[in-house]
Order: sequence, then structure tokens, then C-alpha cells
Amino acid sequence: MIRTVDFPEILYQTVLDPIPSPSRRPRYQFTGSGVETRGVTSGSSGKSTTTILYRLRQMVEVTPMITDARVLRQEFVPGDLEHRDAETTYLSETLAPIADGETPETVIIHGPSGVGKTCVAKYMGDTLRQEVLDAEFQYVNCWQHYSRYRALHRILEGLGQTLDIHRQSTPRDELFERLRQYDGPPCVVVLDEVDQLEDTRLLYPLHELPQFSMILIANREKAILRAVDERLTSRLTGSERIRFDAYHEDELVSIMAARVRWGLVENAIHDDQLRRIADAAAGDARIALSILRSAARRADRATENQITTDHVEAAIPAGHEEVRQKSIDTLIHHQRVLYDILEAHQEIEPSSLYEAYQERVEEPKSDRTVRNYLAKMEHYNLIVADGTSRDRTYRLRK
Ligand SMILES: Nc1ncnc2c1ncn2[C@@H]1O[C@H](COP(=O)(O)OP(=O)(O)O)[C@@H](O)[C@H]1O
Ligand SMILES: [Mg+2]
Repeated sequence: MIRTVDFPEILYQTVLDPIPSPSRRPRYQFTGSGVETRGVTSGSSGKSTTTILYRLRQMVEVTPMITDARVLRQEFVPGDLEHRDAETTYLSETLAPIADGETPETVIIHGPSGVGKTCVAKYMGDTLRQEVLDAEFQYVNCWQHYSRYRALHRILEGLGQTLDIHRQSTPRDELFERLRQYDGPPCVVVLDEVDQLEDTRLLYPLHELPQFSMILIANREKAILRAVDERLTSRLTGSERIRFDAYHEDELVSIMAARVRWGLVENAIHDDQLRRIADAAAGDARIALSILRSAARRADRATENQITTDHVEAAIPAGHEEVRQKSIDTLIHHQRVLYDILEAHQEIEPSSLYEAYQERVEEPKSDRTVRNYLAKMEHYNLIVADGTSRDRTYRLRK
């Protein structure tokens, strides 16, 4: 790669006195192995070109590959999304009534992991806050806030309604009463990973109260409908649904390319390397970005200003592993126990798994809840369920 750059002002200040006018400043060309001067040189200076080159060389060697690490993080919500126009348009049309103080319909978003469900929902929240003055938006990750109490508390906290509420000691009914009494601007509540909510009785009041509307997110649409109580099932049958599919290779490439533009030095990576990453990520943007991050870190550590094929190849298993480790860290205690049992077995049948689980925890959850936990771990590619419901076995995904 050959790159021509202007000599940075700061470096002139450290090596030249007086600083030449811009038209008299030399241009420097990076050749990968070194730096060469091009164009005019600064004849007015007493310092030799060698000194300048030496300093420049030093600078090149410490030029960080990553210029903005924030944009490579998983939680980063870009101001511009790639390839989800249809989904965001549909979502904003559904939420439009809120601008007139009306309650939008409940929306269900579903799809595999790493396809932008969370990202799109948060992006809509940012847009809503910018465009509608009188609207509230609250995001709850139900995997983290899995009890009815915690999820409810989280919503009220976001709405600034928990000042005098003491966690644990305030009865749940009182929290519900707060929700009922809320008379602020209409509020959109996103319940992400809603299939992990232990007790879905929270959804009914949220659905019924005119101040609130919901965006429900899960991997499978059925898991949402199965989890909610009967009063709500019929009401949700007619609700808006948006299915997010795995990304195509081109889409992953442009998602990564945007992050490269915002967060890495110029010309940090070739298109065909992005393609290689997209191919390895198999439709999952979380994995693609994790591989990209790992490759960039490798180049950064090697103080190179370009990501090489070796960096990419080494980053592919590392990126997958990082995502897997993050998913393991997300598991709640009961899921972690199941994971540990599976780790100790090649494969195991549901009944033996449940028995082993019961022995290891103090207050075992129902068989149905355990199946629900396992389904989540499957959606996050931590485990594999082989066979049909009759001859099912579980194993860890290696
Ligand atoms: N359309 C998109 N444009 C830009 N970034 C995206 C897009 N879709 C996903 N991402 C990024 O990919 C990662 C995974 O997306 P996420 O929304 O967490 O997936 P999901 O919730 O479906 O599992 C996040 O870091 C997110 O910022
Ligand atoms: Mg998500």
C-alpha cells in the first residue's frame, strides 16, 4: 500500500523553526516498509530531511490502528443503520401515533441472534426522542432483569418514578400502582429477550394501560405467544410483527465497512478481507464485528497500519470465541448450572439433565422453564439440541 500524507502541524512544530508555509511543505509517501519524501522540500529550514523523516517514521510506528474503539463495541448504536430501512420504516409507522399522544399497537420483533433486533429498537428510541418532544422510551433487557419485580423496577426507574422506592422492601403491588398512576408523556417500553422473563404477568398491565405501548423482542415469535397469559394471547395475535432475517454477506460487509470508516485508520482493511470475515460470520453481525475487532486489535498490537490476512485468519476463531464467552457471561445462575452439566457430558437426554440440575440447585425451576432456558442457550449458539422432541439430546456446541 502506498499512502501520501501531509506532514502533521504538530511535527513541524517539534522539528522545524520557522514552520514552512503550507505550499512549501513536503508531502510524504508511506510505502509500507518506509517513508519517502515527494514534492517540494522545506529549503528554508536548517533541519535536514533526514531528521524529519526519522521523526515521521517514529510517528508512523506508533500510529494506532484503532482511532475510535467505541464504534467497534457491541453496545454501540450507530446514528445510521445499514440495510434495515424496511424494518425501521415499518417500526416508525407503527409508532407514529405517539406523536399525537395516542397509543401505538404492540410490536413483536423476532429473529436469530446478531441480526440487529436490539440495535434497531434502540435506534428507534433515539429517533423518537429526537423527533417527538413528548414521548418516553424505556429499554429493558429481560434476560438481565428477569423477574417481574426487576423488570418493573427498571421501567419505573427509567421514568424517574423510583426515588422513594427501596429495592426489595417495596411490595410489588405498589410498583404496579406506580405504573398505573404514571401520567407523563406516552411511553414505549422495549422488552428485549422477553422470552426470558420469568413471569410475564407484567405484560398485561403494560398492554392495557393507555400510557404504555410495547415492543417485544425474542428469537422466536412462538416463544413470546407461549409465554404470555391467555388474556393477552388473543390480543397479541393481531399485533404488528417484524421478522429479522440473518444478514447476507454484502450486508455484513457494509455494516463492517461503516465501522472501519468511523473507527480505524484509513485503508485499514481490504474489501476481500471484509468478505472473508462476513463469510465466516454466517449472517451474524455480532460475530462479524467481533472478528473485525479482534483483527484490528492484532494489527494495532503489531503496530501495523493495515490489517493483514494473517490477522484476519487468527481473528476468526478468536472472534467466535469472544462472542461465545460473552454469551456464557450473560447466562443466569440456573442456565450456568445447565451449561456446566452439559460441559461434563458428551450428550445428555432431557430427563437426566433435569435430574442432575435438580440436584445442583436449591430451588429448581419447572421442567418447562428449564426447556425455555435451554432454548435460549440454543439460540445463542451455546448448545445443540439433536433429534426430535421424542428422542431429544443436548450437547455443547464446540
Ligand atoms: N443494520 C445494522 N447496521 C449497523 N450495525 C448493526 C446492524 N445490525 C446489527 N448491527 C450491529 O451488530 C451487532 C449485533 O446486533 P444486535 O442488535 O445486538 O443483534 P440482535 O439483537 O438481533 O442479537 C451490534 O453490535 C449492532 O450494533
Ligand atoms: Mg439483542
